[in-house]
Amino acid sequence: MTSMRKVMILNGPNLDRLGTREPDVYGTLSLQDIEKLCVETATTLKLEVDFRQTNDEATLISWLHEAAETKTFVIMNPAAFTHYSVAIRDAAAMLTAGLIEVHLSNPIAREEFRHTSLISGLATGTISGFGAQSYLLALQALVKL
Ligand code: DQA
Repeated sequence: MTSMRKVMILNGPNLDRLGTREPDVYGTLSLQDIEKLCVETATTLKLEVDFRQTNDEATLISWLHEAAETKTFVIMNPAAFTHYSVAIRDAAAMLTAGLIEVHLSNPIAREEFRHTSLISGLATGTISGFGAQSYLLALQALVKL
């Protein structure tokens, strides 16, 4: 029996507000809509998706520990943590199965404080600026790795 390859899609703070949060920047889809799109795409790619969001740094760290222990591939939108959390970076450094960083917006085209990512240097790659599509592109990229 073959089991489907699992991928954790981890989302950081304020992404639970998508849909109403700065729609001109982040679009009008809710995080649930994005989850649905990810599950649909993952199914066609024969991937099993475990989609999560937290506003809490400690929780995100514990999920990264879980992914490291279970050798699970991670697609992560660390949201604001991207730009300042050494703790999230240190946890991500323990991942062995792979990491793709995603963003809905293109942080480089925005305020200067968003130009630094503590995560990018650990990721296989970063996909930014395509809205919900960033997540779907990451799923497609991961199956071809
Ligand atoms: C974001 C970009 C970050 O700068 C911001 O703090 C977010 C969302 C994005 O998906 O575009 O919360 O990660």
